[in-house]
Amino acid sequence: MKRDGGRLSPELIKDFLTGYVDGRVHDYHASALLMAIFCYGMDEGELLAWTRSMVDSGTRFDWSHLEGPIVDKHSTGGVGDKVSLVLAPALVACGAKVPMISGRGLGHTGGTLDKLEAVPGLRTELTIEDIRFQMAEHGMFIAAQTPDLVPADRKLYALRDAAGLVEAIPLIASSILSKKLAEGLDALVLDVKFGTGSFLPDREKGLRLASRMADLAKGFGLPMTVVLSSMDQPLGRMVGHANEINESLDCLRGDGPKDLVDLTIRQGGEALLACGLADSLDSGEAKMRTSLENGSALEVYQRFMKAQGGQGDLSANLPLAPNESAFLAPEDGFLACVDCRQVGVALQSLGGSRVEIGGGLDHGVGLEILARHGDRVQRGQPLATITHRAERGLEGCLKHLGMAYHVLAEAPEPVGETRTLG
Ligand code: URA
Repeated sequence: MKRDGGRLSPELIKDFLTGYVDGRVHDYHASALLMAIFCYGMDEGELLAWTRSMVDSGTRFDWSHLEGPIVDKHSTGGVGDKVSLVLAPALVACGAKVPMISGRGLGHTGGTLDKLEAVPGLRTELTIEDIRFQMAEHGMFIAAQTPDLVPADRKLYALRDAAGLVEAIPLIASSILSKKLAEGLDALVLDVKFGTGSFLPDREKGLRLASRMADLAKGFGLPMTVVLSSMDQPLGRMVGHANEINESLDCLRGDGPKDLVDLTIRQGGEALLACGLADSLDSGEAKMRTSLENGSALEVYQRFMKAQGGQGDLSANLPLAPNESAFLAPEDGFLACVDCRQVGVALQSLGGSRVEIGGGLDHGVGLEILARHGDRVQRGQPLATITHRAERGLEGCLKHLGMAYHVLAEAPEPVGETRTLG
């Protein structure tokens, strides 16, 4: 028995997960087993069988009738991470197809679906028929998990969230990978974030997740490249929803901030290499860069957004909340982002992210970060512009920005470099 540290057989796992989806196994049984897994973990064979049964609980897409390799990326999430919005259309412009099932933000990290919903009319809840149409006509979609895609994960994730059991490495690995396997991919890039703004700030834990997911992908024969990237300060300059859409448009016009463009191009280069559309990382990156500079990625972006219901001029910037205030440097020195998570909490103070599942959020509020970790700054210099509505949450936002950024007498250690695992 798992309760006593024993091993789960593949048959038992299958029975449990099918029983849980069809209602024969109750939440109280399931939470007891999840707690035992949280405490004792799962070995490689158990994790493989668990993930296989999760995938088998629902539909698995088959894109064999379409031309072009099927690729996707997944990020463990962070502050200002809008890479998917740029990467997916750029990959399609380079000849790939991207069936991107994405998530919503909760707490300090943003979610791609919430950002997309800042665009008037845009639908993120697509039917299987919509998804098939998008893939055939536009080569991509970005949408929420449908009810028939890994239903075991939908139920288990809600239970884990309610029972405080999200942060178990085998459960995270199987949850993420089961959805990606159900997408019917030829290759996957996994961006594991480390640092103070990440989902798993403990670097060791992040590395363990990366390595377990790499083993698991290998077990399923899915080519997967793991990119490890820093979330020690926000990615790009914008944090929010409408303003992150606007910054994604800057990237698609060939004019995005360097850290965001570099990470997008790196992940895209890895994806093109993994799926055979490039014969080296350099040539994959060059293709990605060209797609951003020649407007082809922007064209794909406008087409897929329009097909998902986006209204108006989809290449025009979205309007933001009407009021602006500045967050100022309290003294002369060097800027250090000491707790990037607090930048996400600062956005939450303005009403810009959800505090509970299903709660609302304000797409128009946000932050523009004007100085980077390590920059020399002067007292009174604006470090961020806060876009808000009639000062709602402004005091809390300023307080959390003050917790995120300190001004030091000496230059701080630089943030970590992006690298691939292995
Ligand atoms: N994202 C997921 O999809 N699942 C997890 O368990 C954690 C993050």
